[in-house]
Amino acid sequence: MTTAATAATHAERTAKDFTVHYGADPDGLWAAPGRVNLIGEHTDYNDGFVLPVALPHAAVAAVRRRDDGVLRLHSAQGDGAVVTLDVAGLTPGGVQGWAAYPAGVVWALREAGHPVGGADVHIDSDVPTGAGLSSSAALECVVAVACNDLWQLGLGAAQLAVLAQRAENAFVGVPCGVMDQMASTCCAAGGALFLDTRDLSQRQVPLDLAGAGLRLLVLDTRVKHDLADGAYAERRAGCERAAELLGVRALRDVPQSLLPQALERLEQLGADAELRALVRHVVTEDARVEQVVALLDGGDLRAVGPVLTAGHASLRDDFRVSCVETDLAVAAAVEAGALGARMTGGGFGGSVVALVADDGTERVAAAVADAFAAAGYGAPRAFTAVPGDGARRLA
Ligand code: GLA
Repeated sequence: MTTAATAATHAERTAKDFTVHYGADPDGLWAAPGRVNLIGEHTDYNDGFVLPVALPHAAVAAVRRRDDGVLRLHSAQGDGAVVTLDVAGLTPGGVQGWAAYPAGVVWALREAGHPVGGADVHIDSDVPTGAGLSSSAALECVVAVACNDLWQLGLGAAQLAVLAQRAENAFVGVPCGVMDQMASTCCAAGGALFLDTRDLSQRQVPLDLAGAGLRLLVLDTRVKHDLADGAYAERRAGCERAAELLGVRALRDVPQSLLPQALERLEQLGADAELRALVRHVVTEDARVEQVVALLDGGDLRAVGPVLTAGHASLRDDFRVSCVETDLAVAAAVEAGALGARMTGGGFGGSVVALVADDGTERVAAAVADAFAAAGYGAPRAFTAVPGDGARRLA
């Protein structure tokens, strides 16, 4: 199993590389984590509930202010080139590749009237990319917290998350919800973030995995199917259409007790079976988040497992964002003794999160690897995730 680089080594390397690239010391160092979502998938753009956990994996940025309006961006994971931009000339769609995420945050901050200027930025991230673990949000949020400190903007974690989401929506052009950015800025070690995405009210729910003899095992299938982006936008549009047909602001406003009536009404209005299934997923998924929160509050961590597996079935059968690789990983994990497992993130590949007993971790990871080998798929990557801290200044 792989582990995240120790935070200290990661930070030291990022500061040193900054100096090598820019010939001066940075003003500071910041970190923003990726996330694994425990439950509450495709609910955030329906004003619903989510329950993510911050990963130990993070984007670390070394940043130095400049006073000439020039933004220079360099990534340890990029092609080696420094991307040089003029902050006053930043325009949505005008920056391609990874640099669009940090540049988009500077654009969103300036658009919102914050006096952010030029900077030299070096980013080194160990959040796996394309794995449904929010590597993009980590890139955005690390730049957001750095700018907040360097220009003394006084913005709170949720405000930074919303601006980072705006960067992704309007500058990069990805119609994501707010979960990933909120997870990256607001999570705290030892807990999961119970977030109401309508008003951003939140609570840290204790997640004492070690105390319960359990672990969160993340299985990255290393698969990312091409249809992911288009399908995400399509699902989102479907949910919005269903809400409109039902006359509610968002699907979050359909209580689970009224789901049968809502589905019947949609049928009368001519909505097809696929659209009705989207509604069924969102409504039952919001209920599953509340169920998991209640179980965690009650200290019954083991009982969370089957709720995760039920969530996967709903994403597979009703929301249809799963794929053969994540279905196989979930089935193999549960078969090998995981208490529960589900795909996590947007879907069409990416990762599976499994709740496993301490002594079953290696067995479950090996069973998934064996199942992948037998099916002719590439080897998955497995690691355990201890809930970490949200975005912060390191030095
Ligand atoms: C992606 C998006 C999130 C959320 C999830 C699905 O990660 O960025 O906003 O919609 O998919 O739950």
